[in-house]
Amino acid sequence: MIFTVAIDGPAAAGKGTISRAVAERFGFAHLDTGALYRAVGVKGGDPVAAARGLTPADLARDDLRTLEAGQAASKVAVIPEVRQALLDFQRDFARRAGGAVLDGRDIGTVICPEAEVKLFVTASPEVRAHRRWLEVGGDAAQVLAEVKERDARDMTRADAPLKPAADAVVIDTSRLSIEEAIAAACAVVSERLCK
Ligand code: CDP
Ligand code: CDP
Repeated sequence: MIFTVAIDGPAAAGKGTISRAVAERFGFAHLDTGALYRAVGVKGGDPVAAARGLTPADLARDDLRTLEAGQAASKVAVIPEVRQALLDFQRDFARRAGGAVLDGRDIGTVICPEAEVKLFVTASPEVRAHRRWLEVGGDAAQVLAEVKERDARDMTRADAPLKPAADAVVIDTSRLSIEEAIAAACAVVSERLCK
């Protein structure tokens, strides 16, 4: 069975949490596409060469989830040649047998416009910054500023900007518990699988 669930949205909206739960529930494979951009961002040197030569070892680094890696990722993510270098890997993953969940910024719009399910997971910047601050600590005002800066860069870039696909189901998790957000996403997937 080929079945793709595309989950897009801004930083710390809950994409990863929901993606992992959906993948587990339905037995699908999961790809966190943000990790690809984070790995390119922290590798240094020429980002296009880094994207073309990305290896599994680059994705296994323990420094990928830092605020700095997030900023570095969004800077290399504006480069069209970087996005192009990562495209085929993501498309092949999405159409693998047995179903796949991919989360990122452009899965429903660019990587997999034909995805069977498209979710746009969002929340207010304040809620998202608070969640990220709980994870990484430090200066809360700075975490909020960095979340807003990254959102702005992701939404205004010319190539594959962050926006909901026209046919995406929007899930605002601002006032949802993790369990409620997962249930909302699973309900959309179940409905589509039953069709
Ligand atoms: O992948 P993304 O950056 O969109 O977000 P995440 O890593 O799934 O979630 C960011 C943080 O928010 C995690 O610590 C989640 O446990 C938390 N979260 C939450 O508190 N409430 C939700 N409804 C969803 C996520
Ligand atoms: O987990 P969080 O939402 O904070 O970030 P992420 O999903 O790991 O993505 C890090 C950065 O990579 C984003 O801010 C985007 O600039 C970029 N990205 C992208 O451009 N396209 C994707 N499909 C995934 C991530």
